Amino acid sequence: MRLTSLSNVLITGVDGMVGSYVDFGIKTNHHSLDITNLSETMAVIGKYKPEVIIHLAAETDVDRCEREPERAYMVNSTGTLNVANAAKKIGAKVVYVSTVYVFDGSKHGAYLESDLPCPSNHYGRSKYFGELIIKGILDDYLIARAGWVFGGGPEKDRKFVAKIIKQLQQDEVKVVDDKLGSLTYAKDLVDKIKTMIVEGKSGLVHVANAGFCSRYDVAIEIKKIMNSHSILTPVDSSYFNLDASRSDSDIMESLTGGIVRPWQEALSAYIATEWI
Ligand SMILES: NC(=O)c1ccc[n+]([C@@H]2O[C@H](COP(=O)([O-])OP(=O)(O)OC[C@H]3O[C@@H](n4cnc5c(N)ncnc54)[C@H](OP(=O)(O)O)[C@@H]3O)[C@@H](O)[C@H]2O)c1
Repeated sequence: MRLTSLSNVLITGVDGMVGSYVDFGIKTNHHSLDITNLSETMAVIGKYKPEVIIHLAAETDVDRCEREPERAYMVNSTGTLNVANAAKKIGAKVVYVSTVYVFDGSKHGAYLESDLPCPSNHYGRSKYFGELIIKGILDDYLIARAGWVFGGGPEKDRKFVAKIIKQLQQDEVKVVDDKLGSLTYAKDLVDKIKTMIVEGKSGLVHVANAGFCSRYDVAIEIKKIMNSHSILTPVDSSYFNLDASRSDSDIMESLTGGIVRPWQEALSAYIATEWI
């Protein structure tokens, strides 16, 4: 189904990093729509009767998900079940934003939509259950998997890119160089979702900026853009003692048209417009 207007699109979890680029529709946040509360979810979605729901709300702290798995499954799996049931009742399409963490990173080469997921941590597993719920319950859905997401600017960016930007004021910054992935600029993700909704696209799509990189490569690029004199020292991932295991490879490619502008271009635009 093609959409002519985005005004009848409801968004969950709009106060987050990705939601900060949503400039349309019926915006809901944790306060106005707690997706873990079934009756509230049914009531809010039943009240607005959107044609499409962009489901962003999630517990996205990968290490917290590992420490508190019941929370991860409650928000990312049960919460998605509630959204899917509410959507089914009113006949709405759901666009579910998922993650490359549904894969375990053991593939040599990029992950395609045709690859079978096999998550290796609770965050990835809880999001994959969300995907299965969406596919199992709804006839019309779009699952958009993102890579290493960056965006949100100084206010909303709590992830890797913001950390590096802030640390570049120090003399030396240690950065992991033994994991590869695809970046997804949250603004490009929202723009792509908008286009796909208008076109009536359904199914599964990997949305990422073209190319792949290590976090060290990203830091080098940020240092260049910010004209910083800080020294970047590559370290392997065991240097940081994280709770959740991370994949060796989070590289994504798309067979279904999800690749957007190169990551260097997107990163440069992000820093120039939101940080400098
Ligand atoms: N960030 C990434 O690297 C990444 C990568 C791939 C895919 N994704 C997916 O992209 C989507 C958006 O992520 P994001 O980066 O924007 O994450 P984010 O910045 O953590 O935002 C998530 C939002 O969900 C809200 N939320 C949490 N629990 C909720 C609940 N029970 N009911 C309603 N809202 C709730 C949070 O509100 P509070 O803060 O008030 O709790 C927050 O505003 C998520 O589905 C995520 O899994 C993210």
